[in-house]
Amino acid sequence: MPRFTEPVVRAAAAAEQDLYTYVNRADSRSGLPELSLDELIAEINRCADLPLEEGEPLPAQAYTSQEFFDWEVENVFKPEWYCLAHVSQIPEIGDFLNLDVFGDPVIVTRDKSNEIQVLSRVCPHRGMDIMPPGFGHDGHGPAEPKQGKNGCGNTRLFLCPYHSWTFELDGQLKACPEMQLAKNFKRSDVSLTSFRSEVWNGFIFVNLDGKAPRTVAEQYETLGEHLQKWSLANMQVVVEREWDCPFNWKVLTENFMESYHHAGAHSKTLQPMMPARDTWNEEERPHYIRCHLPFKEALRNEILDTESKGGQWDVFPPVEGLEGEDRFEWGLFLGYPIFTFLVTPDAAVWYRIQPLGPNRLKLLTTVLAPKSTIERPNYPEMLEEMSKQAVDFHLEDMEVCCAVQRGMYAAGHQRGFLSHLEMSIWQIQRYLAARSRGTWPTCDRPAAPSQKR
Ligand code: FES
Ligand SMILES: [Fe+2]
Repeated sequence: MPRFTEPVVRAAAAAEQDLYTYVNRADSRSGLPELSLDELIAEINRCADLPLEEGEPLPAQAYTSQEFFDWEVENVFKPEWYCLAHVSQIPEIGDFLNLDVFGDPVIVTRDKSNEIQVLSRVCPHRGMDIMPPGFGHDGHGPAEPKQGKNGCGNTRLFLCPYHSWTFELDGQLKACPEMQLAKNFKRSDVSLTSFRSEVWNGFIFVNLDGKAPRTVAEQYETLGEHLQKWSLANMQVVVEREWDCPFNWKVLTENFMESYHHAGAHSKTLQPMMPARDTWNEEERPHYIRCHLPFKEALRNEILDTESKGGQWDVFPPVEGLEGEDRFEWGLFLGYPIFTFLVTPDAAVWYRIQPLGPNRLKLLTTVLAPKSTIERPNYPEMLEEMSKQAVDFHLEDMEVCCAVQRGMYAAGHQRGFLSHLEMSIWQIQRYLAARSRGTWPTCDRPAAPSQKR
C-alpha cells in the first residue's frame, strides 16, 4: 500500500502547476510602460533621493516584474540574513522544520549537541529533495503542538526516500546501501549542504550566499538593545497561522511598517487605540527601521485605572520589567530586508515572509509570549483570545494587500504620493536603492532624522 493516495499526489502536482499558470498570466501586464531592469533600478534611486515630503510610491513594475524579483533575490535576499524560525519552534533535539527559501529547500533542525543547523534538503546522491512539500512529510506548515510540545517534526535521522541514504541531524551521511564498489566515494566526506546560520535573540537566521559582511549580532546590535526588555530568546511562539498570499513582499512589508492605514483599514480596530496621526519613525539607520505607535491618552488612563484596581487590560499580563512608554505603545521593526516584527506591552509578533515570486508569498504570522505568561493558570483562555485577535486584524491587512497588488496590474494605475506617515515606505526605497549600489542606507548619504515631535 503506497504511503499516499493518488488524489494526494495529483493535488500536490496541480498546486505547483497553478502557481506557474498564475505567475505567467500575471507577469504579462498591459497598458503600462515597461521599464528595463536598469531603468527600474534608476527610478528606485530617483525616488530614494527625493525628500520625504516629495516622496512617491515605486513604479508598479517593482511589484510585478519577474526580472526585478529575480534581481531582488540575488542582490537583496541571498546576500543578507533571512529569519527562518524562533528557537521555541524546535525546542527538542531532533525537532525540525522544512522551508523553501528563495528556491532552496532547507531543514532547520536541532542536532544531538543541541546546536541549531540549517541544512539543504537536497540529497548529495542524485539530488532529490528528501522531504518534498505536498507528499505527507512532517515538518511543513505551521508547527503543530505534538505530545505537548511544539515542533513540526521530530526525528533521529533524515532519510532520503529515493535510495535510502540516511543522514545524522547535523547532515553527516550515516548510511548508504550498496555503495561499496563506488570508487572515489568516501562516506565520511559526504553530508547535506550546511548553510551559514546564526541564532540572535532566539531567532534563527540564514545567510544563503554565506558572504554577509557582518554577523546578525553586529548588524542588528542596536536593534537588539531596543528589544532586550522583551527577552525574546526566552519567549515562546504560542500562535502560528499560515497564509498563502497573492502579493509582492514589499506590499506586505510596507503595509506592516506604515500605520497611516490605521485611519482606513483598521478604522474600527487599531485607529481608536493608536491613531495614525500620532505614529512616528525614529531616525534612519543602516540595517533596520523602528516606528512608534503610541496609545491615545484616554486609553493610557483606562489602562492605569484598570491596573490600579488590580485588573489586567491587555490579553496577556504585561511583559515583566517593561516601564515608561513601552507600556503604552506598540513598536514596529523592519530588520532589512524582511525581518518584520512588532512588540506590544504583553507580547511580540513576528511575521515570517517567504517571497515566492513577484506576486506570491507564503506568510507565517506568529505571536510570542513570555514563559511567565504561559505558566499562568488562566493561560488557555488568554491564548484563545490572543489567537482570535491576531487573526482579526491580519484579515483587515489581507484585504488591502490583495487589493493593492491587483491595482499594480491595472491600466488605470497611477504612481501616487506619500504621506509623512509613510516614512517607512520611503526608507524601504532607500534601502533598495542602497543595495543596488552595494551599500546600506546612511552608509553613503546622511541619515534621515527622527520624526519625534
Ligand atoms: S537521491 Fe537520495 S539516496 Fe539517491
Ligand atoms: Fe495593518
